Amino acid sequence: MSDEHAHDNPLVMDHFFNPRNVGDIPGADGVGEVGAVACGDVMRISIKVRDGRIAEARFRTFGCGTSIAASSVTTESINGRTVAAALKFSNAAVSAALGGLPPAKSHCPVLAEEAVKAAVADYLLKPPTPAGA
Ligand code: FES
Repeated sequence: MSDEHAHDNPLVMDHFFNPRNVGDIPGADGVGEVGAVACGDVMRISIKVRDGRIAEARFRTFGCGTSIAASSVTTESINGRTVAAALKFSNAAVSAALGGLPPAKSHCPVLAEEAVKAAVADYLLKPPTPAGA
């Protein structure tokens, strides 16, 4: 989908040209990969959890500029949050962090919310690592 609105938004442009936390986390505690039916964009978010908080978050996104900006700002937003708080992470928070997005780009922040929740669910569903492993 076209990203014509992104050019008017300096926050989207900044996160698109200087994305934060790009990549995968080796040995991640949770990974969430989701796709947007509307446009075919795919977003993967990996997290490391320490003492019940997200200690690191990284992303890989194949999609529009706004979805890349949404991924970038999302990894910044969830860093340091408790797992419980990350489960309440909302697409509205992503939109707000990017200064508001037009309706045509509404599924970009939704993708980010779903990726975060999928990563946290993956973490929560994994069996605990045995002590000393
Ligand atoms: Fe679909 Fe951005 S246009 S996620």
